[in-house]
Amino acid sequence: MRAKTLAAAISVVFPALMLMACGGEQAVDVKKLMASPKSYVGSDTCKMCHLEHFDSWMMTLHSRMTQDPQKNRDVIIADFDEKRIREDLAKLGDKLKVPADQIFIPKIEDIKYTIGSQWKQRYIIEKGGVLYIAPIQYNADTDRWVNYNEATWEKNPWLLKCGGCHATGVDLDKQKFVEPAVGCEACHGKGSWHAALPKTAVFEKRQTIVNPSKLTSGVAVEICGSCHNRGKATKFKDAEWAVGYEPGKSLEIFFKSTSFAGGDATHLYGNEFSKAHHQQYIDWKQSKHFKEGVNCISCHYVHQIGVPPTRSQTQAAGSKQCFACHVQINQNMAHSIHSFANCVGCHMPRIVTSAESGDLHSHVFATLLPSDTLKNKAIPNSCQTCHKHKNEDLNELQADWDALAKIPKPVGKPIESIPYKRAK
Ligand code: HEC
Ligand code: HEC
Ligand code: HEC
Ligand code: HEC
Ligand code: HEC
Ligand code: HEC
Ligand code: HEC
Ligand code: HEC
Repeated sequence: MRAKTLAAAISVVFPALMLMACGGEQAVDVKKLMASPKSYVGSDTCKMCHLEHFDSWMMTLHSRMTQDPQKNRDVIIADFDEKRIREDLAKLGDKLKVPADQIFIPKIEDIKYTIGSQWKQRYIIEKGGVLYIAPIQYNADTDRWVNYNEATWEKNPWLLKCGGCHATGVDLDKQKFVEPAVGCEACHGKGSWHAALPKTAVFEKRQTIVNPSKLTSGVAVEICGSCHNRGKATKFKDAEWAVGYEPGKSLEIFFKSTSFAGGDATHLYGNEFSKAHHQQYIDWKQSKHFKEGVNCISCHYVHQIGVPPTRSQTQAAGSKQCFACHVQINQNMAHSIHSFANCVGCHMPRIVTSAESGDLHSHVFATLLPSDTLKNKAIPNSCQTCHKHKNEDLNELQADWDALAKIPKPVGKPIESIPYKRAK
């Protein structure tokens, strides 16, 4: 009985959909559409109906991660001069595994794609039909060239080692991808059904695409965690990105994050804080913010219509971000002696490296005290980014801190009223 009603409803709804679609758009056979598997269509397809989202995404780094210099030479941020590159490389001396004058430097015409532009830029070239990362890197803030895997670069194919975090719709079996850059579908999932449905089929439209803000917080943040992370794929040998993962799925099925305890001293400090970049998710998972459900999109936006992004795409600049929620913090401890409100300076110290040492922020949000460094010399602290100029003695700094931390918190006792006396 119910099945019959449903069938009747469908026979009314579907032709209606097709009818609605006739007003200017091509008719879509919804049944046929849904019978074929979902696939990637690329951000240019989304642009047709979501122009404002597209425009604002274009202002973010996600849209510019992987770019084709043969279409637009300006995507190369460096001055690509072989003599200058070799001079910079030569300065690295012993650090090089291949002599500076023998390191492979590609010709601009041979660069298939550039990767990155904010902190550093690397260059992809093709060899025997496979894409590799050329062994030179340009560091933007310091304007210098450095080596990058100069002895092993031909053993690390880009698609396998990096691809899924820098491009959308990567297929390792077919050695293909749909779009360079972190496109719409990297966060919203495959869009073929959604894009093909007529504009008027609003309900079906909503059902066929992932809207992260309609997922539970834990599942939504794993979308960011699928790339802002470091580790190994569980379902594809030697891949270092979450092969098979799609927005809305549980990340742990497809990816295992690295850790110091698991033997990775290259990318993490001994206290499991990140030393290397693209590990924000690993840091954040250790924080109180994680436990309270304050996630990446509580602080960052990925497309905010009409608002140009800050360098890190935060909803407010610097420490203003924190005041959105922390309107009141205790006034004792470090907070009492520091008259400025640089929350980021202490709670997100620059101890993470992308291009040069300490260019990125920790995302554990905990302050590292001098005692952390005293216990383990390899662990930096938040204080010495500022207290360094006068050869600060760490034991002294810690002692000052301990004395301050002992000051009791104010107790909520009402102040007794003092009888008013008229001056004579
Ligand atoms: C033919 C027009 C069209 C195309 C192409 C299109 N969309 Fe949409 N999209 C819509 C309409 C219409 C809605 C529903 C608006 C509403 O909910 O009021 C929508 C809704 C959405 C939503 C919100 C869903 C929800 O449940 O809140 C997301 C996210 C989205 N689209 C992403 C995309 C992405 C990503 C692409 C490219 C793969 C894309 N869209 C392509 C028309 C389109
Ligand atoms: C890095 C991840 C990411 C990328 C890339 C991305 N989005 Fe989104 N999108 C989100 C998140 C998270 C939300 C929900 C929260 C919000 O609105 O910011 C969202 C929400 C939306 C919505 C729902 C309406 C709204 O504004 O809340 C639409 C439509 C949408 N995105 C379209 C697009 C299109 C089109 C592109 C590509 C041009 C795109 N998105 C790229 C993560 C992303
Ligand atoms: C498919 C992989 C991928 C996904 C998914 C992804 N990102 Fe990213 N994200 C990147 C890459 C790669 C960059 C670097 C882009 C560049 O430098 O051009 C980046 C850059 C950023 C930046 C700017 C970093 C800077 O240096 O200023 C922020 C902030 C960010 N992502 C937040 C998010 C958030 C929040 C989400 C989830 C809603 C998310 N990302 C999802 C790969 C991803
Ligand atoms: C697990 C996902 C992931 C993998 C694997 C990965 N990256 Fe990234 N990469 C990111 C994210 C996310 C960012 C931006 C956030 C950050 O740097 O902290 C980034 C940033 C970069 C940047 C700097 C971008 C800029 O604008 O300065 C470069 C260059 C880069 N990656 C190159 C590579 C290369 C080459 C590989 C492979 C050997 C690789 N990455 C592997 C996720 C990844
Ligand atoms: C409580 C707020 C908050 C949360 C939660 C948060 N971030 Fe950030 N993030 C920031 C601030 C603040 C900065 C640095 C802003 C500045 O430049 O001063 C930043 C910087 C970044 C950068 C740029 C590189 C750097 O370290 O400077 C990336 C990439 C990033 N965040 C990604 C993420 C991702 C992915 C998540 C979720 C796993 C996340 N963030 C969670 C506040 C937050
Ligand atoms: C979206 C709201 C929100 C934003 C924005 C935010 N926080 Fe929080 N924060 C919370 C909540 C909720 C908690 C947990 C409850 C509490 O301890 O107050 C918390 C806890 C903390 C803690 C306590 C950690 C502990 O171990 O007790 C620190 C430190 C902190 N936040 C620092 C920051 C800093 C620094 C920023 C800015 C970069 C920031 N927060 C931005 C909501 C936020
Ligand atoms: C962003 C820079 C910055 C950071 C980070 C910072 N301080 Fe300070 N600190 C200052 C400045 C500047 C003063 C001078 C007082 C003022 O103007 O607030 C100061 C004053 C002090 C004083 C008072 C005595 C003195 O030496 O003048 C102590 C103790 C102190 N800091 C300890 C710490 C500890 C412990 C940390 C780490 C948890 C820390 N500071 C982190 C900048 C910083
Ligand atoms: C000089 C370093 C320093 C600065 C600057 C600083 N904090 Fe803290 N904060 C600490 C230390 C140390 C603790 C003790 C807990 C810890 O290790 O994170 C703490 C604790 C906290 C806590 C948890 C305890 C509580 O009071 O609820 C919050 C929330 C917090 N800070 C937020 C902020 C915010 C917001 C700012 C910016 C207005 C800020 N802090 C500036 C060093 C600092």
